[in-house]
Amino acid sequence: MLGIIPHTIDEYLKRRVDAQTRAAVLLRAGFQDGKQFRLDTEYGDAECCALVAAIADVTGGATETVFDEIADFFLDWAEQTFPGFFAVAPDTRRFLMMQPEIHNSLACGLRSSGQRKVAEKFRAVELPDGIRMHYRSSNRLAYFYCALARNLAARRGEIAEISFIEGDTASSAAIIEIRLKPEPALARA
Ligand code: HEM
Repeated sequence: MLGIIPHTIDEYLKRRVDAQTRAAVLLRAGFQDGKQFRLDTEYGDAECCALVAAIADVTGGATETVFDEIADFFLDWAEQTFPGFFAVAPDTRRFLMMQPEIHNSLACGLRSSGQRKVAEKFRAVELPDGIRMHYRSSNRLAYFYCALARNLAARRGEIAEISFIEGDTASSAAIIEIRLKPEPALARA
């Protein structure tokens, strides 16, 4: 996996928990205290999942809550780092359609086996009011996908209604439908 995700998770830890808790999380996930995650380095997929599981274990929170928080933190970072991706897709549906391409373009820095792996993870099909995502990954991060889609929609004044056509949030292969609606004006006031 590209370093962007482990790096962001570690940045999240550095800002949200004390140094002792961060050290405990790293240790539990199998890393040494003081470990740094580089954006431009490839990490094992399992290492990223181990980090999230370790945060949930050490902080006593649910894995879903950890993913929701990381999704919010990650999108703040992505909006600042890659404003161009967000500018060309002002609504959530268009961004979600473009998301596999974003991942593929970032994966260009990986070895060809890594590139293929990233390309196989996501296939988006356009629906009149949303998208259907074909997700396939041994990382079983469909919940993270949903957390990011919901958070992205909320940032754009939209609500993402999510349903699983095949699989579930912990499956290695899932078909997810995301239907987008404008947020009621009252909720935004
Ligand atoms: C500009 C915005 C974004 C950037 C820069 C970005 C970047 C990345 C990168 C580099 C990875 C690691 C890929 C790998 O090596 O396998 C990743 C993973 C992932 N991204 Fe994004 N992403 C963005 C937006 C999104 C959005 C909006 C969603 C969902 C709606 C999403 C869903 C995911 C998921 C589910 C994974 C984990 C895939 C897996 O390993 O199973 N990303 N992202």
